[in-house]
Amino acid sequence: MLIPQASNSAVNVDSAFYRMLGMEIVLLVLVTAAMIFFVIKYRRKEKTVPENIEGSTFLEIIWTIIPTLLVLVMFYIGWVSFDSIRAVPKEAMRIRVTARQWSWLFSYENGRQSSDLRVPVGEPVKLLLTSQDVIHSFYIPAFRIKEDCVPKMETYLSFTADETGTYDIFCTEYCGLGHSGMLSKVVAMSDKDFDSWYAAVPAAAKRAGGRLLEEKGCLGCHTTDGTAKIGPTFKGLYGAPVTVLTNGKERTIRADEAYLQESVRNPKTDVVKGYPDIMPPTQLKPEELDAIVEYIETLK
Ligand code: CUA
Repeated sequence: MLIPQASNSAVNVDSAFYRMLGMEIVLLVLVTAAMIFFVIKYRRKEKTVPENIEGSTFLEIIWTIIPTLLVLVMFYIGWVSFDSIRAVPKEAMRIRVTARQWSWLFSYENGRQSSDLRVPVGEPVKLLLTSQDVIHSFYIPAFRIKEDCVPKMETYLSFTADETGTYDIFCTEYCGLGHSGMLSKVVAMSDKDFDSWYAAVPAAAKRAGGRLLEEKGCLGCHTTDGTAKIGPTFKGLYGAPVTVLTNGKERTIRADEAYLQESVRNPKTDVVKGYPDIMPPTQLKPEELDAIVEYIETLK
């Protein structure tokens, strides 16, 4: 198996898929064999004159009933598997998923927020999905679940992780330049590990700005380690000269506190040369903006 079956739905979806694939292979073989048989039997060289058949009620009934039954069987297989994914157990843990250009945010009922999805193994989870900007699509291949994240709308997904492990989360709807980098992980943890993670409120003092960068989605496009992504890196930015385009005119300025603040509040004012003008306005409280800027100042 290339992709692990790591949830209850994975087993259901795969079994539906393989049963239908099996039926399709049988049909393909029958149709192809009949085709080859007739091509050979009625080839021109043989000069066989085909019989002119004038209609047969018996045959017509047969070829109506058999395909109808086959299609109904396929529908039933698909429906049972679909129903098992859409049915959400009442006790399911609810986690809000917010998609935005270009990162994921997972918010838990106790206020805990995370940029990766952490879930306890063996417990049903209900994801409530939405988007802050454009349409994204939330996809966990190992769980065989996928759902669109639509602005101003709430969609849902449900699953129970079967095995501890870390699995990929992808965005599968083209959502702009950073689409291919809109990745995250789902971490299925043992009950004990999950509980201690869930209860531990991240040390507020511990680099609050760094946590905000993650929670607000900044790290979807920027890094703190010096590598350039869709946007410039934050490392070594503070105090450095930056070449920007202001109203289309190139100028070099120093990345001081005022510049950093303004670049978050109004990203379109000074666009760093060499980077696309695509940063969405970010809603931040003044103290959050302060914390972020203070943090960037420490990234030497
Ligand atoms: Cu979000 Cu593609």
